[in-house]
Amino acid sequence: MSAFETAHLDPGTPNIARIYDYYLGGAFNLPADRDRADRIKSVLPGMEMLARFNRGFLRRSVAFMVDQGITQFLDLGSGLPTAGNTHEVAQARDPRAKVVYVDYEPVAAALGAEILRDNPDAVMVEGDARRPDELFADPRVTAVLDLDRPLGVVMTGVMVFVGDHEDPVGLMKAYRDACAPGSYIALSQLTDECADPETKVQVHAMVEAYKGVIEQLYVRDRAGVEALFDGMTLVEPGVTLMPDWNPRPGLDIPTLSPAHGLGYAAVGRVD
Ligand SMILES: C[S@@+](CC[C@H](N)C(=O)[O-])C[C@H]1O[C@@H](n2cnc3c(N)ncnc32)[C@H](O)[C@@H]1O
Repeated sequence: MSAFETAHLDPGTPNIARIYDYYLGGAFNLPADRDRADRIKSVLPGMEMLARFNRGFLRRSVAFMVDQGITQFLDLGSGLPTAGNTHEVAQARDPRAKVVYVDYEPVAAALGAEILRDNPDAVMVEGDARRPDELFADPRVTAVLDLDRPLGVVMTGVMVFVGDHEDPVGLMKAYRDACAPGSYIALSQLTDECADPETKVQVHAMVEAYKGVIEQLYVRDRAGVEALFDGMTLVEPGVTLMPDWNPRPGLDIPTLSPAHGLGYAAVGRVD
């Protein structure tokens, strides 16, 4: 099956990964995805820029981790491996870099596997980021990643799907405990803490507009994000708004937008 044909799996149903691909200017989205994405953008005009700020942080944090000597990445809740995703940044900086992408959404996983078919050092697996024990025991993961060596764990735009009732702090501790010392975890998180009242209303309308595509999105404040890094050492500059985390020419989006204040980002080191 070609990547294009795979993209047509369940074509009438808007798909979270393909909607995100549309925000990022990708080619793997369909009319149903674009219709829903446009509806979401109509309630939160900064939505597309928010996705781009998030992907910009991912790219800068992956570049940072490669610069620290990390050559293997586990990308949780990856969406599609396109539009400047982890393997594109990591393998451009270090051709030895290996990446396992994980998404629990079957269409994203199937399409991602198809897109990566010719890349022996990047694979996509269907799996649930909330089940680290299963992922770290999965032979599709251990075939690519040496879990005795430091990992770069990418958790951008995924903890927004994990509510406080699912013990996100305990989940982060499980990843921290499973990773070899010297590993890094990069994370971004939707917030409305810094938003003005009008934007706050727009954020909550956006969460409503996503219903039916996904179950729920959860916002967190700075303290909630800092708590996710308990037991890790936050690298400089700590928890910041997404575009403010180590801006770098070429990996950055220098655009002013109300979306600037809608996401926190940080990278923690496992000691
Ligand atoms: C907003 S996209 C983020 C894409 C990419 N990580 C980035 O930051 O640019 C979120 C993705 O996470 C996936 N996802 C949400 N919860 C998940 C879970 N528990 N396990 C695996 N994937 C999950 C969704 O299916 C979706 O494709």
